[in-house]
Amino acid sequence: MSKEIQLNFSYPTSVVFKRGAIKELSEYLKQYDFGKSCLLVSGSNFARRTGYLDLLKNELKKINCETYVYDRIEPNPSVETVEAGAMLARKTNVSFVLAFGGGSVIDAAKAISLAYSSGVRIQNFLGVMNVNVTTVPLVALPTTAGTGSEVSKYSVLTDLKQKRKLAIGGPALFPKLSILDPDTLYTLPPNLVASTGLDALSHALESFFSKNSTVFSDMLSKESIRIILNNLPRAFSGDLEAKAWMMYASMLAGLSINITSTNVVHALGYYLTTHYGIPHGLANATFLVSSLEYEAPFMTDRFAELSEALGHSSPDNVVKSRLLLKDISLLLDALRIPRNLREIGVKEDEINTMVEDVTQNYSRNLSNSPIELNKEKLIEICKNAYVGRF
Ligand SMILES: [Fe+2]
Repeated sequence: MSKEIQLNFSYPTSVVFKRGAIKELSEYLKQYDFGKSCLLVSGSNFARRTGYLDLLKNELKKINCETYVYDRIEPNPSVETVEAGAMLARKTNVSFVLAFGGGSVIDAAKAISLAYSSGVRIQNFLGVMNVNVTTVPLVALPTTAGTGSEVSKYSVLTDLKQKRKLAIGGPALFPKLSILDPDTLYTLPPNLVASTGLDALSHALESFFSKNSTVFSDMLSKESIRIILNNLPRAFSGDLEAKAWMMYASMLAGLSINITSTNVVHALGYYLTTHYGIPHGLANATFLVSSLEYEAPFMTDRFAELSEALGHSSPDNVVKSRLLLKDISLLLDALRIPRNLREIGVKEDEINTMVEDVTQNYSRNLSNSPIELNKEKLIEICKNAYVGRF
């Protein structure tokens, strides 16, 4: 065996994965002692438009739970949005927080629960990766298939003034209960299926190639990658069964990054989101092939191992690496993802500024990379992303 077995993990989140599970929310909540007052956190549109907001309120009413709605979560939630949510939680003195939405909503709800429970402003937790204070319980109901936040110990917020993403991590950020109901994906439009699905693919790939990977995270990330490659194009076309598989794969990738964290693709992607407003998963996808192409010659065995797990065979490990990269490239083509940074509007002479920003703000992510990435190497990756994937 090439990798020594060394594990150190815990998963304190109870997970339910079932079609229609949200319609039985009251039955699941009865199994816990979360109290009788809930802050329901969501975005401003989806929950209301689809009727889910009424359904959730009704389910909470069945167990005599008072519900307060905070539906102001924007994509890439800001520190200010979280502080306003925590203020409402204080005013209403809720006993638990329920998040209904995509990664932005779940991340914001985690941070609201943390700021409210601790009585400390959320700014003081930004960048802290071992937060272990006791919080009111968080129940997560994801409505996209990509973030993995429903099973992860991370929350990522945006500092609007400094144009940067700031992560908070630690045991306090784990939801107590997550209910994954694939029926919520029914109306998810193709562009969101693609961008959130590619976030999950980034999590799984970055996790597999992380220097922190273990035999256990490998098992999770490999299976996640296999499922995503087989199902994302069909999910993109609207197939509900494929969307359900994506929800499962995204959960696996979320579990995997709890162990490894993300690395270079997320670091670079954050820049495109904070400076160009590119959705998180799409921003990651723009750097996926160029980053992996750069890393491949330094870790041919690992690339070959993953390629083999995906069914490729060849006596030559370099060929196996190319086949893996081709799989990813073809998937991005099928999802009509921009082929290069130019299509996004980035100018070539911005690359130095971009790399400067990324090394300054996301050194934590970069430090998880399988190979050491200094500015020169990052510039090379960005130049490859500028030219575009093959
Ligand atoms: Fe992500």
